[in-house]
Order: sequence, then C-alpha cells, then structure tokens
Amino acid sequence: MSTPIHNQISLMNLEPAVDDLTREVVQSLQETPRRLSCRFFYDKTGAKLFSKICDLKEYYLTRTELQIMNEYLGDIGHCIGPEAAIIEFGSGSGQKTELLLESLERPWCYAPVDISREQLIEMAERMSVRFPDLWIQPVCADYNAPFNLDRVVEADARRIVYFPGSTIGNLAPEQTVAMLGRMKGLVGDRGAILLGLDLAKSREIIEPAYNDSEDLTAAFNLNALRHVNRVTGTNFNISAFEHRAIYRPEHYRVEMHLISSANQRVRINGQSIRFEKGEHIVTEYSHKYPLEVFDRLLTSVGLRRVQTWFDRNRWFSLQYIQAST
Ligand SMILES: C[S@@+](CC[C@H](N)C(=O)[O-])C[C@H]1O[C@@H](n2cnc3c(N)ncnc32)[C@H](O)[C@@H]1O
Repeated sequence: MSTPIHNQISLMNLEPAVDDLTREVVQSLQETPRRLSCRFFYDKTGAKLFSKICDLKEYYLTRTELQIMNEYLGDIGHCIGPEAAIIEFGSGSGQKTELLLESLERPWCYAPVDISREQLIEMAERMSVRFPDLWIQPVCADYNAPFNLDRVVEADARRIVYFPGSTIGNLAPEQTVAMLGRMKGLVGDRGAILLGLDLAKSREIIEPAYNDSEDLTAAFNLNALRHVNRVTGTNFNISAFEHRAIYRPEHYRVEMHLISSANQRVRINGQSIRFEKGEHIVTEYSHKYPLEVFDRLLTSVGLRRVQTWFDRNRWFSLQYIQAST
C-alpha cells in the first residue's frame, strides 16, 4: 500500500499487522531465554533516545563509523560508481546516508527501509529537500521478512544495499546468514552490499557503550516495554524491570537484558505470563565479530569482502561486499 507523504514521495507501507506482532511477542516471551524483538526499541521516543545515545562519549560506534566515512568517502563513492540504486536497511535518522549520497555520481534512486514509520517519513522528507533531484521511495517494513522491491527499483538498475550502524550485529548468526543471503539475492551479481560492522575488542571499550553513565541506554531498553504495551495491549509494569548489558566474548556479543525486579505476572492477549524475581528478557544482541569469523559467514552464502575501510584503532569496519565469482 502506498500513501502520499509529500508532493514528490509516497510511503510503501508493509508494516506487520498488530495481530501478527502480538502473536510474535507472546511466543518470544515464552521461549528460553525469554526474548523481545529489538525492533520494539524504535518508536518515536526510542528513535529520539537512540539519537542521543549516538552522541554519548561511551558510544564509540556512530562516531567511529562517521570517521571512516569522512576519511574514505571518495574511495567508497568510487567503488559504488555512477547511477546506483541505493537501498538502505534500518535507515534511522539517515545521518550517514546523507554523506554517502553526497559522494555518489547521479544516484538512480534511494529506498530507505525501516520499521520505525514516523522516523522514516521524517527522514525521507528531509532527504527530499536535501536531494531534490533524487527519486526517494521510503519502505516501512520488517527487513527480516521477505519483501519485494521490484516495484521500487527497476530490474536493470545496479543495486547497492547499504546497511550501516552494525545493525546486522543485532541478528543471531543464523539470522545473519539468512539476511546476507537475502541481500545477495537483492543486489545480484552486478550490485554490492556496503556494510558497517563493529569488530571484537576489549570489554573495557564495549560494555560502557551499552551501560552509559547517563542511563540513556537503560531508558532506551525499558522504553521497548512501553512500546509493546501500546501496540499489543500488554500490561508490563516498566518500573518493575531493570536494564542490564553484558559482554559475552565467547559468543562475540553484548546482550541487553531486562531483569524482573519482582515476582510478577504480565497479561497479554488473554494470557498471563509469570516472571520470577531476577528472571530476564533478552531485548538485543549486538555482535562484535573478529573479521575472520564474519568472513566465514560471508563465504557460507557465496559473498566476499572486496574492500574494507577501518578507523585508526580498527574498532569498526565498513565493508564493500559482492558475490564471489
Ligand atoms: C541501530 S539503529 C541504526 C540507524 C542508522 N542506520 C545508523 O547507522 O545510525 C537501527 C535502525 O534499524 C531499524 N530497525 C530495527 N529493526 C528493524 C527491522 N526488523 N526491520 C526494519 N528496520 C528495523 C530501527 O528502526 C532503526 O532505525
């Protein structure tokens, strides 16, 4: 379904239905460990909190990726080449995208895909003012579900999937492989993937990024419960949960949890789910892979790193990935 949001652009709305979301929440809360999808972070409040997190001194990721982009923008633009169709997964505020689009020669079109509808519309409107000659087609969708972009991007356009922010690190390894396979199918043999990927490093650097001194990450994590309550009619008591983030290097990831601070029951869709004091819900994984481990995931789906740009500490990488020939 397409909804006009501007005289030049319209939204392709493939948002999941509330019933499907509710079913998914009920199911994931009953798994071991209990889980909530990290897409619930990004309602309007969550998107604003995330922007503030990006500016925190402890949150090295955004600063570092921007540093890489600023330093190597010419090379990146050269790799991508002229008239590329840019499809962005998890476009968020589009801060990095603005830099990328500026560096490109006559980009064919820009299709940001994000689940956070309000933020997506706001960003697409801003981009249309910033790049008045560019065809912009925002798509509100869950990028983990299959969706067809053939109506958005012509078959003969050279497609580049841009997936910055190390958002791919939120996926479990098997989901990452599935996502890489889907992106490969989307770009074909002529296209490429431009991927931001955070790398393994010491606990002292990683943990504070998810446990900041201003408690913004805690507010961001807890806000997911508020969002779930609003969308699915659940009755989570926000003040009865606490934020925790732990680095598990053996799994190459930080895990964000919400810990129940009391024995309690939560009602959802006519069911009641019991939480013991101290029990946790996993709300997010943020994988930080050593390069060679991620390379193995790429190889498993017939992809390879063609070019990689690093910051001076080698904390983060921006990778240009194509189908292996
Ligand atoms: C960590 S933020 C990154 C934003 C931006 N790309 C950056 O690098 O700063 C993740 C973005 O992905 C979006 N997102 C998270 N899960 C998603 C999903 N399942 N489908 C589509 N978008 C999703 C969020 O709404 C958010 O805008």
